[in-house]
Amino acid sequence: MNIDGSTTVVGLFGSPVTHTASPAMHNAAFKALKMNWAYLAFPVEPRNLRGALLGARDMGLRGVNLTVPHKLSALDIVDELSEEARKLGAVNTVLIENGKLRGFNTDGYGIAKAIKTEFNFTFKGKRVLVLGAGGAGRSIAVQCALDGASQVLVANRTPGKTDPIARQMAETKTVFRAVALTTDDIARVINEVDLLINATSVGLLEGESLGLDPKLFTPRLFVYDTVYRFTETELLRTAAAAGAKTANGLNMLLHQGARAFEIWTKHKAPLAVMRRALNAAVYGARK
Ligand code: ATR
Repeated sequence: MNIDGSTTVVGLFGSPVTHTASPAMHNAAFKALKMNWAYLAFPVEPRNLRGALLGARDMGLRGVNLTVPHKLSALDIVDELSEEARKLGAVNTVLIENGKLRGFNTDGYGIAKAIKTEFNFTFKGKRVLVLGAGGAGRSIAVQCALDGASQVLVANRTPGKTDPIARQMAETKTVFRAVALTTDDIARVINEVDLLINATSVGLLEGESLGLDPKLFTPRLFVYDTVYRFTETELLRTAAAAGAKTANGLNMLLHQGARAFEIWTKHKAPLAVMRRALNAAVYGARK
């Protein structure tokens, strides 16, 4: 489909956005469904998020995804929040409809689908350790609680950032604990955990490491890394070497994207097409 005067535009606001695979995924879906739509990535600095969102509304965009570092600040900018975005305390998808900015969260759905697809279980009754308390960490931790996890522990480099998660958790039956993001503190709780999810941005750059001791990992542990840029991050390599079951963030990206696609277009997302496009965009060039 050629871009013309009636192309509907959606996109991504983030900083940085140059490495994103979302345009490949969404544009492949539009092409497969012969829709005259285009998905573009816009580098938006934190101080410009409000202007960019109001500009998107005024320029007739249909919606945007939000990534690092906008998922929390958008809460105060959009006109309306979906129940999921309100509960999860973060916005990763905005629908622009009738002149209004409507905030959604599809990350919670994405992680739950990814865990089911990769490990074949749900969060119900599980004990989960989430690393990171930014927009992604917060959505994932609260989603675990909403899906009936028995315990959710969150480890973050900056301690105070777990406070809003503790408040969101108070509305659920899940036991919540904040721990420090250090080998010593994690060693104290790791035996009480079934699943570890990395929701920090560590691993986005090649060779980046959380610096956790390999001895923390055992074969009974499931380890999910939301980073998808590499088939194996350092965290996943270390965990797999210890016999833990591991998966990277590609399925989370796919499923949060599919849900966003459906919110904007009201069409069922062509999952197989989107998965193929993601694989080619992320790993194709390196094969
Ligand atoms: P996102 O929307 O992807 O969650 P974010 O809100 O900017 O992005 O959050 C990034 C997360 O990665 C935070 O938990 C951050 O920890 P701080 O709260 O201490 O900043 C975490 N993070 C980023 N770099 C890190 C590093 N080098 N070591 C540990 N944690 C890091």
